[in-house]
Amino acid sequence: MFSRRILAGIQPSNVPHLGNYLGAIKRWVELQNSGEHLIVMLADLHAVTLPRDPKILRQTILETTSSLLACGINPDKSIIYRQSQLPHHTTLAWLMGTLATVQQISHIPTYKSKVKDEESIPLGLFMYPILQSADILLFKSTHIPVGEDQLPHLHLCTTLIEKFYHIYKKELFPMPKPMFTETNRIRSLRHPENKMSKSDADPRGRIDIMDTEDLIRDRVMKAVTDFESRITYDPENRPGVSNLIDIFSGLTGEMQEDIVERAQLEGLNTKEFKEKLIKIIIEHFKPFRIKYLELMNDHSYIYDVLQQGQAKAAVIADQTLNEVKQTMGL
Ligand code: ADP
Ligand code: NA
Repeated sequence: MFSRRILAGIQPSNVPHLGNYLGAIKRWVELQNSGEHLIVMLADLHAVTLPRDPKILRQTILETTSSLLACGINPDKSIIYRQSQLPHHTTLAWLMGTLATVQQISHIPTYKSKVKDEESIPLGLFMYPILQSADILLFKSTHIPVGEDQLPHLHLCTTLIEKFYHIYKKELFPMPKPMFTETNRIRSLRHPENKMSKSDADPRGRIDIMDTEDLIRDRVMKAVTDFESRITYDPENRPGVSNLIDIFSGLTGEMQEDIVERAQLEGLNTKEFKEKLIKIIIEHFKPFRIKYLELMNDHSYIYDVLQQGQAKAAVIADQTLNEVKQTMGL
């Protein structure tokens, strides 16, 4: 009854990092190229959950879009657009918000962890999961590529669908299914107990995929490992080294065990392994970076792409929102 449609979101608040690439963008491109109906939403409304410097945000929106296009998101095959340019998102968030309770959202772990010590809780943080549900429902998305940490948000979305059905007796939405939850999270190079993240205040924990070769080299060489120089894979006890092996594996497609076996045969220590990894990262992103720099020279082309994506997204969004309003008597 519902055709497959995949909604992928990314906050355009910085050039994507290696975690974004391996955990998300690389897979989105594969889905797109296997013929899936993919919508890539630049989650700029989510990015302003807490206020940002507008000049920087305008720049990072361009950088994120260029990065995605350079990595292979093809606007002839997929829809790529900015969330803030479709008012449908916030309208649907309001309508869906009427079906949620304050208690329900207060229990979501990502929300709880963000507000645990706060005396005054920003309302945006509270509404974030509702907006995210609206994003999914607006396109009647059937599949959502998300990390495991996002599963409670997807759960909220399914309860909203059930509640909507219960009240209005109309099955407007498919139950969205998560994809890729089993993926290894890429960790911070400085604090391997955390995931690599745009919101990490310490940029040395990250490799942004359009970084210069010198910066990539520096970040990898300074990545935290431990006192053992042999290469072994043990994410629990050796998170730093294991993270480097995960990055290696993500970029080459080789299994972790095979990478370790070869490194041991070659007698590599961590420093030598890092040198090998640096070459792989640089080679992998070199063609993307050339394309990226080209794109960043032509802002009007990027805005055109986003505008065309927006027009295509609006066709779907109009239809869904009309159905929802009609169903609710609006
Ligand atoms: P960030 O957490 O850096 O702000 P986003 O929230 O914009 O990134 O997430 C964009 C996509 O990248 C999501 O699909 C998310 O699951 C994925 N992602 C983010 N960080 C990582 C990571 N460290 N490892 C693997 N995937 C990640
Ligand atoms: Na995030």
